[in-house]
Amino acid sequence: MTAASPSLRERVRTQLADLKMPGALEALDEILRQLDGGQLPPAAAIESLLGAQIRLRNDRRLLAAMRSSRLPAVKTLRDFDFAFQPSIKREQIDSLHTLGFVERKENVVLLGPPGVGKTHLAISLAVAAAQYGRRVYYGTLADLITSLEEAQQAGRLTQRLKTLIFPALLVVDEIGYLPISRTGAMLFFQLMSRRYETGSTILTSNKSFEEWGEVFGDEVMASALIDRLVHHCHIVNIRGNSYRMRQHRELAALLQTGPEPPAPRRPSKEARSR
Ligand SMILES: Nc1ncnc2c1ncn2[C@@H]1O[C@H](COP(=O)(O)OP(=O)(O)O)[C@@H](O)[C@H]1O
Ligand SMILES: [Mg+2]
Repeated sequence: MTAASPSLRERVRTQLADLKMPGALEALDEILRQLDGGQLPPAAAIESLLGAQIRLRNDRRLLAAMRSSRLPAVKTLRDFDFAFQPSIKREQIDSLHTLGFVERKENVVLLGPPGVGKTHLAISLAVAAAQYGRRVYYGTLADLITSLEEAQQAGRLTQRLKTLIFPALLVVDEIGYLPISRTGAMLFFQLMSRRYETGSTILTSNKSFEEWGEVFGDEVMASALIDRLVHHCHIVNIRGNSYRMRQHRELAALLQTGPEPPAPRRPSKEARSR
């Protein structure tokens, strides 16, 4: 018995085309083949068909989001090695990836020394949100502040602020690496005040909250910023070694062992005949 007669197949094909479901359309033949072969129960076939379309939609969303969000790379939870960073609670990171914090407009602050995976995790959360169809924007603190300062000088501050307030998720990476001017700090404070309870922000820093006064050049403003941030906030404190250094160490160890010994040479014809 076959699952679908040729004319039924054709009608399903037409329906999928009509509904603009190219992912499901492409998967249809293979799913019907498995259904016919008894490898796939009917309910699972429906799930597979819809799953194929959802995957294509998510890939397309991600591609579009990568263009508009300025994300510097695609990093995912799948390529994050939790064994290397035992101070990270896996359940906390997994639970953040279900994106409830974006719905609830809560913040995430990733703290820790360089190379421990702060940017990786911030990006993987942003990628998950983009795949889920939420608007995402990424910038380092220095880049975001420069863009705000430039906009202010050009009389376009309101528009620039709108662009940065609008996304459901904003990533502010690398707080603490570069010194910030007083105007820069005030513009950033303005941005964060406007985002407060209207959208989620992920911030990463190699400096503890106590040092943010120094980073922003103003203790009072920094504590007002932290106060708003931590009101609805998930803090991920990473204490551990740099993953970059691990890669360097592995390379150094490889170089130390020297080049591979030469392969044993095949004895010459004369030697073999001897
Ligand atoms: N635990 C990990 N598993 C896999 N890759 C990691 C891990 N931690 C960091 N990396 C990788 O190491 C590099 C440095 O990590 P990054 O997130 O930029 O560190 P940070 O932002 O804390 O300085 C990146 O290429 C990142 O993908
Ligand atoms: Mg980083």
